[in-house]
Amino acid sequence: MTIRWDAAAREWQLANGRIGWAMRVLENGWLGHLHAGAPLRGDGSLRHLGPAEFTGYSNRVGEPVALEVPVPGVGDFRVPALVVEGPDGSTVLDLRYAGHRIEPGKPELPGLPSTYAEDPSEAETLEIDLADDPTGLRVTLRTTLFADRPVVARSTTLTNTGKASLTVRCAMSAVLDLPDAAWHLVTTSGIWARERHVHDRALVPGCQAVGSLRGASGLEHNPLLVLRREHTTEATGEALALSLVYSGNFLAEAEVDPFGTTRLRIGIHPQTFAWRLEPGASFTTPEAVVVWSADGLGGLSDAFHGLYRERLARGRWRDRARPVVLNNWEATYFDFDHDRLVGIAARARDLGVELFVLDDGWFGRRDLDNSSLGDWVVDRRKLPGGLEALVRDVRALGLEFGLWIEPEMVNPDSDLFRAHPEWAIGVPGRPRTESRQQLVLDFSRPEVVDHIADALIAVLSSAPIDYVKWDMNRNITEPWTPSLPADRQGEFFHRYILGVYELYRRLTTRFPDILFESCASGGGRFDPGLLAFAPQAWTSDDTDAVERLAIQSGTSLAYPISSMAAHVSAVPNHQTGRITPLATRAAVAMFGVFGYELDPTAMSDEEQAAVRRQIAWYTERRELIQRGRFLRLRSPFEGDGNETAWMVVDADAGHAIVGHYRVLAHPMPVRNRLRLRGLDPAATYRVTSWGSDFSGPGPAIERAGDELMAVGIGIHPPDPLPEGTEFDGIRLIYGDFHARLLDLVRN
Ligand code: GLA
Repeated sequence: MTIRWDAAAREWQLANGRIGWAMRVLENGWLGHLHAGAPLRGDGSLRHLGPAEFTGYSNRVGEPVALEVPVPGVGDFRVPALVVEGPDGSTVLDLRYAGHRIEPGKPELPGLPSTYAEDPSEAETLEIDLADDPTGLRVTLRTTLFADRPVVARSTTLTNTGKASLTVRCAMSAVLDLPDAAWHLVTTSGIWARERHVHDRALVPGCQAVGSLRGASGLEHNPLLVLRREHTTEATGEALALSLVYSGNFLAEAEVDPFGTTRLRIGIHPQTFAWRLEPGASFTTPEAVVVWSADGLGGLSDAFHGLYRERLARGRWRDRARPVVLNNWEATYFDFDHDRLVGIAARARDLGVELFVLDDGWFGRRDLDNSSLGDWVVDRRKLPGGLEALVRDVRALGLEFGLWIEPEMVNPDSDLFRAHPEWAIGVPGRPRTESRQQLVLDFSRPEVVDHIADALIAVLSSAPIDYVKWDMNRNITEPWTPSLPADRQGEFFHRYILGVYELYRRLTTRFPDILFESCASGGGRFDPGLLAFAPQAWTSDDTDAVERLAIQSGTSLAYPISSMAAHVSAVPNHQTGRITPLATRAAVAMFGVFGYELDPTAMSDEEQAAVRRQIAWYTERRELIQRGRFLRLRSPFEGDGNETAWMVVDADAGHAIVGHYRVLAHPMPVRNRLRLRGLDPAATYRVTSWGSDFSGPGPAIERAGDELMAVGIGIHPPDPLPEGTEFDGIRLIYGDFHARLLDLVRN
């Protein structure tokens, strides 16, 4: 890994054999972009890849010049990286090279989550200073190259070294100019219960963007922008992605200009952002992560999964096996008391569950979702012995204990709101929009964060709690805060998220043994920002096995299996009304952090026996599933979407699990073989198929690794054939919503 500076050519090259990046100082002192993407040898100059100078508009058409920090008003005319308003109201800047440093390791970003290097040898960071003399604005562009990963991380610090205050109107985390536009744009979008479906379209001239203006990264779009070549597949071809380590309003955009070049940018959404930079003050953008792959979308996912699992997630739970949980939400909703919970927990323990989670409804007087958020004191009507007695009784069963909280919210019907109505976000003199009968607390105010921190520290200290589910169930309307003057209200949304990060920092530092899971009505803040604090997230409120095929596939584009909480719930499913087999629900949830979201005391003996086998099956393979390499073999977003297939394989290709899912059964199915990936071609694998009740492997077969990858394994007819069956061409059809798991062990 090297970051090389050629002083004569005034050019930097980043090379680690996995990704390449090159920049140079143009003749006028501006920072030109030469290359990003494929790794290049990095031993010669690449200055011929860009013009010597930014000539801007001088030739009347405005030829696109690739720049690292484009600004408006100087003849670039495309979407900018940076818009900073000077004391005269102008946003014209003349950012010239003023020096640089190359250091081992990777610095932390103040107040913001980011990827990290555990040892300085894992990464190298280049900081380039640019200065605009008239305003005194100094821009420090930070670029980290990770050793052995096709990853570059980017952030920018703006410092006002002048005498007058400046206003930052746009500060992107990364801008990337690419020399052509022959790309497809891939994004993940959806809504509540339908998060992160994959959308794929060819780039066209003009701007195309996803983003959020709702105060959270959102259920609707994810802070991720992927480009793939037309013929790029899961396993082959070029792909490039930008991901933002941020949980608030974001913009991820691609602009194709008339010359057929592409500019990508990702960062805080400028529409809801303006930041006052007083003399001497600094502002640091969130971090953007850039990944390049020659091995298709799967190659991108490999890089993201490794980085986010190993060098974004932190704390004691990063590398620990995650427990199998049972969450009482869909079992009881708000209708529970001490005895009912202990009854559920006792049955769950008998089935092999390791941690019991008490969800919403344990505090204040919360019998419905219309009261008590903000009042983090136990409801003694439901839990007369308090959390203390409940946790004691649950732990006495041999289970760990988890608790739901929603720290950022307040119900108008709460003691907190009655005492501090001004702590709820809203504009004085105007109505406040309630959603789920709740308002959002103003986390841009330190005193609000302090109050909630104290209340939650008291709760989490009151009993031995092992897990916390931190929920967030509405977005921000009527944004305004009394803590900022009128001309600084543009800082509100970002300050809100900084307040959320501050509370996460305090709680995770104070309770390092607690496993935090983030949640926002399901996957409404499933982003790298929160993964830095909470190594797993509730993927979606939709627990229907069929819907989860799409949600988990889309989520896996950037996020590792160890971050995706996935639970088996009761049927008819509470979100879709669909009835799927218990085994299928389990086989889908097993490609995630596995658990249950149902009342085990309401299950038949037969179902309980099946659950016991499922948990045993999962826990035996948990290390492989939570830490192995995850591959998408068939996509629910392709063709008629009837089939999905996933696989995990361990680091030395010695053990793999394959899941194949078919939504609807069709008569006379076509012959179907599934090609596997990531195996050792020279090895022979013992393949067992797990039947629908997890009651034991079917007959074992032996197949060569090269054959499994090049020819595939039979789906129809199934290979191996289930015990006691014979393939006669038509019969072996198992009905709708069928799942099959294969376990492969190298001989
Ligand atoms: C949200 C979460 C659910 C559950 C409820 C409780 O919808 O996503 O899992 O915790 O809140 O109110």
